[in-house]
Amino acid sequence: METVALLKTLSDAFGPSGFEGEVCATLQRIIEPFVDEMRVDTLGNLIATRRGTGDTTLMLDAHMDEIGFMISFIEDDGFLRFTQTSGWDPRIVPAQAVTILTDRGTKVKGYIGMAPPHILRPEDRDKPYKLEDLFIDIGAVSAGDVADLGIRIGSPAVIAYPFEQLNEQVIMARALDDRAGCAVIAKTLEALADQQVEATVVASFSVQEEVGLRGAGTAAYQIEPDIALVLEATVAADVPGIPPPRQPTKFGRGPAVIVMDNTMITKSSTVRTITELADKNLIPWQYRIPYGGGTNAGVIHRCRGGVLTGVISLPVRYLHSPYALMRLDDFDHTVRLVTAFTRKCPGLVEK
Ligand code: CO
Repeated sequence: METVALLKTLSDAFGPSGFEGEVCATLQRIIEPFVDEMRVDTLGNLIATRRGTGDTTLMLDAHMDEIGFMISFIEDDGFLRFTQTSGWDPRIVPAQAVTILTDRGTKVKGYIGMAPPHILRPEDRDKPYKLEDLFIDIGAVSAGDVADLGIRIGSPAVIAYPFEQLNEQVIMARALDDRAGCAVIAKTLEALADQQVEATVVASFSVQEEVGLRGAGTAAYQIEPDIALVLEATVAADVPGIPPPRQPTKFGRGPAVIVMDNTMITKSSTVRTITELADKNLIPWQYRIPYGGGTNAGVIHRCRGGVLTGVISLPVRYLHSPYALMRLDDFDHTVRLVTAFTRKCPGLVEK
């Protein structure tokens, strides 16, 4: 699988929280040659197993959902009101192009409209828009028009622009959080094809992370892993105006190891295992500076009697905005680290 094509396919797939079906079908197609079995569970998690020679189970998790919106009201004149399902900064939502998924499975384009500056009252000019003041314009002229398209209260939407490659190293795409993590797992499974691996690898592409880590907990309960590794996109903030102590990760420094966030304190032995493995394989890596946030590790490590869990993050700029940027060398280094971890597992893990 060519990396850029894989990232494009996955990040362009439609999949806000609760509506991950298209991402799930795409992933099934991609990983099918590299796994022994696959199933989709009740909540929609895609769980794929690659059997190993030993009796240790390693869970690799990445979430399929992206931040999105839901249609909340349809005006008589065909405009759509909406609410967010997760994670948006309302200040950057106005004046964006959106894609809405209809009940027919078709996609309808629209634009998030607002009052133009010409008619704003002077006292409103400096104020950010609130979500409830915004609306989506799909060019319809009546509520009947909207219904005929298969759009209703509850229809999902995302801000959507196409994948772009900026240069040799940098891509710009919509849903890298966390399709980049999904792509890391796919590339890892590909790298291990036809190789003897001791651990049974269970890939869990989980649903509804962005609304509160909902899918991963039920997935981990079924998988009963001995060890889990969560692959997540994380904040790279090496941009103008942000001092180094407030830059959780930096571009080009390799995969980031999470030591703590709002959902888990990583065992120091697990942090050491990952970082020593990276050093031994000459893979650059960085600590993610603790700033809060959370990942599926938050629910996985507390599953059943507890699961040894680590988080390896991909540095991504402009997370939770219409476009995110990622470096391909950071991606490749992450794949190499996760592949090395999987190959050596369980030998390198001290409990
Ligand atoms: Co994420």
